[in-house]
Order: sequence, then structure tokens, then C-alpha cells
Amino acid sequence: MRIFYFSGTGNSFYVAKRIADDVASSEVTSIPAFLGSGETTIGDNEIVIVSPVYFYSLPHAVVRFIEAARLEDVRYLSVVLTAEFPNGLALGQTVKLMRAKGLEPNSLFYVKMPTNYLIKSKMLTDATIDDVLAAADRKIDRIASVISDRRSSRERDSWAYSLITRAASYQAQWERNFPRFDSGFSSGDSCNACGSCERDCPFGNITVDDRPRWSGHCEACLRCINTCPKDAIQYGDSTEGRRRYFNPRVSMKELK
Ligand SMILES: Cc1cc2nc3c(=O)[nH]c(=O)nc-3n(C[C@H](O)[C@H](O)[C@H](O)COP(=O)(O)O)c2cc1C
Ligand code: SF4
Ligand code: SF4
Repeated sequence: MRIFYFSGTGNSFYVAKRIADDVASSEVTSIPAFLGSGETTIGDNEIVIVSPVYFYSLPHAVVRFIEAARLEDVRYLSVVLTAEFPNGLALGQTVKLMRAKGLEPNSLFYVKMPTNYLIKSKMLTDATIDDVLAAADRKIDRIASVISDRRSSRERDSWAYSLITRAASYQAQWERNFPRFDSGFSSGDSCNACGSCERDCPFGNITVDDRPRWSGHCEACLRCINTCPKDAIQYGDSTEGRRRYFNPRVSMKELK
């Protein structure tokens, strides 16, 4: 089984890794690395996709992955989405995208995880992060058991929540802002040009000479702002002094 993940700040990677620990003969593959390689062959007929939710939807990079990947031989498909609020439009969107490729997902899940969206969300304390991760662990155990046994089990977006989300047009706003998302980043005087944001951006969208520069191909994963060792990166005027988040059970070295 091949487990594909996209993860800015470790939550989705953590879920992918935990599933891989429980499912025999599974391997974990980064979606940005797969997209960057130009590869389209999946190389397995059983796959899991693990991804965060962005604005109640799938991240653009994951949509591109689903559209590009050759999935015609897939016999078991599971999609696991991590989110601060595990609801919205993303599971319905996943089903639509898969049906366009002639596939019906066997299992679909949300896992509630700590938020990394420091631009607007209320960031959690360490104690609350521990509680959320403990609850997530229990859910991941159940998901891993469904996947190990190749069972069917599909969660759905709640009808009422989807309606509210659509009515609020957050998604339309997001689609408008996405192409220039990284114009909101800036770096402050505490930047020491260490280069780690350049090294760690999963899409090679940052270059550091004396300061980081963003190149306009950002996928909004928020890894750079959450992991800068000097908290030197800001987004607009809402992030100064806010807590940063990176999954405490993952090390950056494992992430791609
Ligand atoms: C650009 C962006 C948009 C987000 N939008 C949502 C959202 O609509 N609903 C939600 O519950 N969480 C949202 N989040 C929070 C993430 O989905 C959540 O923290 C996720 O577990 C992060 O996964 P990762 O650590 O693997 O990147 C958003 C995060 C980002 C970066
Ligand atoms: S990670 Fe932070 S300190 Fe290092 S170069 Fe990037 S912005 Fe500067
Ligand atoms: S520039 Fe920052 S937010 Fe954008 S893809 Fe790279 S690490 Fe993620």
C-alpha cells in the first residue's frame, strides 16, 4: 500500500506515518516530491491520501496530484483529511474528483488536529495540543484498522455545515486570493539569513540572500512562518507575537 501525504506542519505526515506503522507493507510518499518528479505512475493498486483541509477544501497541490496521478488500477482507496474543524466541503470535493477519474473511495475520514493557521485561528496552548493529539491518536487507531482490513467506511460532510460554508463564500475568497497568497509574507529584522525557510519550503518557493524572498508559487502550507527559528516571518499584520505550530511528534528531517 502506498500512502501519499501533503503536510506543511507535520499533522498530516504524523497521520500518514501512524497508518504506515499499522498497515503491513506500506510506504509513505510526499505529494510535493511526487509532483516535483513529474511522475504520474502510482506503482500500487492500494493507496491512501492524507492531506490538510484548506478553506474547507482540498489544497490545490492535492487536487493537482489527484488530477495528474494514474489511478485506473487502484483497487482500494482511502482519503484522510486533517483539520482544525473536521467538517466543510472537502470530503464531497474528494468524492467528486475521484468519480471524475472513475474511482469510488472505499474509506473517507476527518481527523481533528491542532491548527497551524495562525493568520486567523486562535493558536492552542501546549496542554490543549496534547489533548487534541491524544484524541487524534484514538481516531487514527480506528482508521488504521479499517485500512488494514481494506474495509469500507465513509464519513460525510454535514449537510448544514456545507450549506453555511458555501453561503459564506470563504472558498470563493480563497480562490481569488490563492494566486498571490505569498505577497502577504514579510520578514523582520530578527531574520539572520539562516536559510532554513529556503531549505524546508516543500515547493522551493523561497530564496534567501540577506532576507527571504517568495517567488509566487506558494501553496499556502504555512511551514515557513510556523518554523522560522527566529519567528522573523509575518503574514499581513495579524501574526506578530502569535504562537507558531509544528506537530511536536514529528521532526522536520522526516518531512518532505
Ligand atoms: C491555508 C490554510 C487554510 C486552512 N483552512 C482550514 C479550514 O478551512 N478548516 C480547518 O478546519 N482547518 C484549516 N486549516 C488548518 C489545517 O487544516 C490543520 O491545522 C491541518 O491539520 C494542518 O496539517 P499539516 O500540519 O499536515 O499541514 C488551514 C490551514 C492552512 C495553512
Ligand atoms: S528561517 Fe527565518 S531567520 Fe532563517 S532565513 Fe528564513 S526568515 Fe530568516
Ligand atoms: S512559501 Fe511558505 S507557505 Fe508557501 S509553500 Fe513554501 S513553506 Fe509553504
